[in-house]
Amino acid sequence: MQNFSAKAKIRGTGSYLPDRILTNQDLEKMVETSDEWIVTRTGMKERRLASSNEFTSDMGYQAAKKALEVSQCRAEDIDLILFATITPDYAFPSTACLIQYQLGALKAAAFDIQAACTGYLYALATAKGFIEAGIYKNVLIVASEKLSSIVDYKDRNTCVLFGDGASAAVVSSEGKGFVIRDVTLGADGEQAQLLMLPAGGSRLPPTKETVEGNLHYLRMEGKEVFKHAVRRMEAASKESIHKAGLQESEIAWFVPHQANLRIIESLAKRFNISPEKVFLTIHKYGNTSASSVGIALDELVREKNLHSGENVLLTAFGAGLTWGAAVLTYE
Ligand SMILES: CC(C)(COP(=O)(O)OP(=O)(O)OC[C@H]1O[C@@H](n2cnc3c(N)ncnc32)[C@H](O)[C@@H]1OP(=O)(O)O)[C@@H](O)C(=O)NCCC(=O)NCCS
Repeated sequence: MQNFSAKAKIRGTGSYLPDRILTNQDLEKMVETSDEWIVTRTGMKERRLASSNEFTSDMGYQAAKKALEVSQCRAEDIDLILFATITPDYAFPSTACLIQYQLGALKAAAFDIQAACTGYLYALATAKGFIEAGIYKNVLIVASEKLSSIVDYKDRNTCVLFGDGASAAVVSSEGKGFVIRDVTLGADGEQAQLLMLPAGGSRLPPTKETVEGNLHYLRMEGKEVFKHAVRRMEAASKESIHKAGLQESEIAWFVPHQANLRIIESLAKRFNISPEKVFLTIHKYGNTSASSVGIALDELVREKNLHSGENVLLTAFGAGLTWGAAVLTYE
C-alpha cells in the first residue's frame, strides 16, 4: 500500500487565456484553407492570441496568481518556480525570474524548463522530485506560451494549429488536492528536426538572411510528428498507469495534450476511455504547447464534479522529441 502522505500534491491550479479570438473563418482570409479542413483534420475551431503588448511572462503571471489563490498559498511561501515555455520573453534571463519578481516570491529559486509541449509534465516531475526528496515544500509550476510570436501566418501547414495561453499549479508537500502518483517522461533527440525553430540560437544567430529566409518561425513535419505522438503517448501512459499501481480501467478522466483531435481519439480508444471522460479544449484554444495540459486540467477541475479517489491521466508530446504521462488521484 502506497503511503500517500509522503507524496507531492497539486494543491491548486490556474489558467489564463487572452481575450482575442482567431477563428477558422479568420484564417480562411489569411491563407488557403477552410473551416471544414481545419475541423476535420484537427478538431480546432478557434484559438486565442495575446495582444502585441502582452507577453509570455504576463500570461504566466495571471495563471500563477490564480493557482496561488486557489491553493491559499502566499507568494512568499513558494520555494521554487519552474517555468515551462518555448517562447520565453528573452533568451535570457529566464521567464521564471521575471515572474518571481512580478509575484513577489522573493525567497523562491527560479528557472525555465524547455521541453516544448511536454513542458508542463517535465515541470510537474521536477516539482515532485524536489518535494519528495524533502528539499522544498512549495513549488510553483507555470507553463505559458506566446506561440503567435513564432508562427508564420502565411504558412497554412502550421498557422491554423497554435494558440496562446498559460497554466499554473502549486505543488506542495501539504494540503489537499491531486496526489501525483507518477510522472513518466521520455525523449528522442534523433528526431529533433521534425519540429523546430531553426534560427536564433548559437547555430544560426539572427541575421538579415535568417529573417529573410523565414528561419525564425516554427517548422513541423506534421505527418511524421503525428505517428510518433500516438505511439509515444500510448506507451508513456501505459507505463505511468502501471507505475502508479493501477489498471487502465481505473482511469476516470483523460486529460491529453490538445494538438489534434484525431490523436486524442485514437489514444482514448486504445485505453477504452469513453468520450465523455476525455477532457477537450482543442476546439476553442488549439495547441498551446507547454500550457495545453495545464489549461485542460484547470478547466476539468472547474467544470466537472470530481469525486474523491478518481484517477486522472495526463499525457503530452512535443518537440525534442519529448513526451510524458502522469497519473493523479483526486483527494
Ligand atoms: C498538421 C496536421 C494537422 C496535418 O494533417 P495531415 O492529415 O497529416 O495532413 P498532411 O500534412 O498530410 O497534409 C495533407 C494536405 O493538406 C494540406 N494542408 C495542410 N495544411 C492545410 C490547411 N491548413 N488547410 C488546407 N490544407 C492544408 C497539405 O498541403 C497537404 O496537401 P497535398 O496533399 O496537396 O500536399 C497533422 O499532421 C498533425 O496534427 N500532426 C501532429 C501535430 C502534433 O501532434 N503536434 C504535437 C507536437 S506540438
